[in-house]
Amino acid sequence: MKKSLLIVDEDMDAAHLLRQQLSSSQWLEVCGHAASVEEAWKMLQACKPAMVLLGGLAETERGVLCQQFRLAFPHLSFIAACVPQELMWEPFFRNLGIWVVTKPVQPSQIEALAMMPSAVSESGINRGPQYGEFHKSPMQSEVVPQQLQHTIAETQFYPARPVTAGLPSKRLITVYGPKGGVGKTFLSRELAIFFSMQKKEGRPLRVLAVDFNLDLGTFATTLNLPRTPNIYTWVQDMDDQLQAMAQRQGRDPQTMRNDEWQELAAVMPLTSHDISKYMVRHDETGLDVLTSPRDIRHSFEIKDYHLYLILETLKQSYYDVILIDTAPDTTDATIQALFFAEQVVMVGNPVVDSIENIQRLLKLLREAEYPEERIQVCMNRLQRKEMFTLEEIRAYFQLHPSKRIFSIPDDAEVKKSINSGNPVMLQPGRAAAKDAIETLGKALLPIEPGKAEPAVRPKTKERPSLFRWLWG
Ligand SMILES: Nc1ncnc2c1ncn2[C@@H]1O[C@H](COP(=O)(O)OP(=O)(O)O)[C@@H](O)[C@H]1O
Ligand SMILES: [Mg+2]
Repeated sequence: MKKSLLIVDEDMDAAHLLRQQLSSSQWLEVCGHAASVEEAWKMLQACKPAMVLLGGLAETERGVLCQQFRLAFPHLSFIAACVPQELMWEPFFRNLGIWVVTKPVQPSQIEALAMMPSAVSESGINRGPQYGEFHKSPMQSEVVPQQLQHTIAETQFYPARPVTAGLPSKRLITVYGPKGGVGKTFLSRELAIFFSMQKKEGRPLRVLAVDFNLDLGTFATTLNLPRTPNIYTWVQDMDDQLQAMAQRQGRDPQTMRNDEWQELAAVMPLTSHDISKYMVRHDETGLDVLTSPRDIRHSFEIKDYHLYLILETLKQSYYDVILIDTAPDTTDATIQALFFAEQVVMVGNPVVDSIENIQRLLKLLREAEYPEERIQVCMNRLQRKEMFTLEEIRAYFQLHPSKRIFSIPDDAEVKKSINSGNPVMLQPGRAAAKDAIETLGKALLPIEPGKAEPAVRPKTKERPSLFRWLWG
């Protein structure tokens, strides 16, 4: 049976053309075209399509529209047709379970998607593709008819990039908190160290920490590590590649606009083979760190498409766990880190301004239908007696009853451990802060019992990080 498709797009010509092209399709039938939200609602009622192609409507955001339609018609699946400049929205759409294709839309792409088995969640609601499913090859699907297979093989589901088969499952964890000084960098460091001390199938986990505080990052400092190479080293190499690509296409890199670079970046081949040259190694634990630039001015040259390419490449890399430390802002780097992540640690302190900002952020993410199960709230620097209890904070955040709030005690040793570059997790003996970080770490990355063995190498000599940073 043919699947019915509703086209929602202001671009009349594009919609008519696609409709014409699909008129002889064996798999799909266009049941209507709506050029406004109102029209789209009417057609949804009237023709009950199985799929909706969201081209573009100036009056609304596609993500919001998709969620509204889904509430009323839970079994709909959605495809967003994007121009290359909309590249940065791809992780956002992906999180909403929306397929993404490039404009101009190829009818074969839509047919191929119509043939995909729909992802039905436990609740029975069709959420479309979930995170990670974009990289499943459609060729694996048994329901795809032979004659379509070659088309699918050639189809570029923009900008989904193939993932090398056989890679171990990995976790991308973003540590975020919409206020400075709450302990994001401290927790990123401790979690990264904790994970690098765990083993998987007899070998230590391969862990990477990324400093996404592009301008004022200090992650390297908190581990006494040098700041070269860094993200900017990688960005320069990417720029060389992009410029060479532009020249091969007969274009003048000097006159190219940001959106043209974005377009080029979308088709740039990725390789994660030799990215270790951009990392600095923490010898004691084997943790790799991708540090932020040394010079603030270098951070100004890092563009959204660079960050996108970095995140996509890291996703294909050999690391088991990637931890991203972020800045307390809502810049591109932070938003991309949130939307690429499988888990987010939302860090705050039990003070009213920090709590207020977390609440605002949660509201924003809820409105964007960000999957809340990915967020772990962590209150850092808890003292014995606080003005607000965790229960009060939980009620204020309107968290799901099953959701716990993690807490890390305020500990005088933390300051010392940051100044000396010696993580709490590597200090001998037991400490409340250490136990609390371990609890959080285990919740983020459940490790089978018996598999957690410390894999720490002998200690090298300590040096106070501040001095090294100032004069080193
Ligand atoms: N659990 C804690 N106990 C005591 N001090 C802490 C704790 N967590 C963080 N701090 C202090 O707060 C400072 C800021 O932490 P940091 O991780 O740099 O915050 P952020 O990255 O959110 O800006 C640290 O230098 C440390 O002195
Ligand atoms: Mg920080």
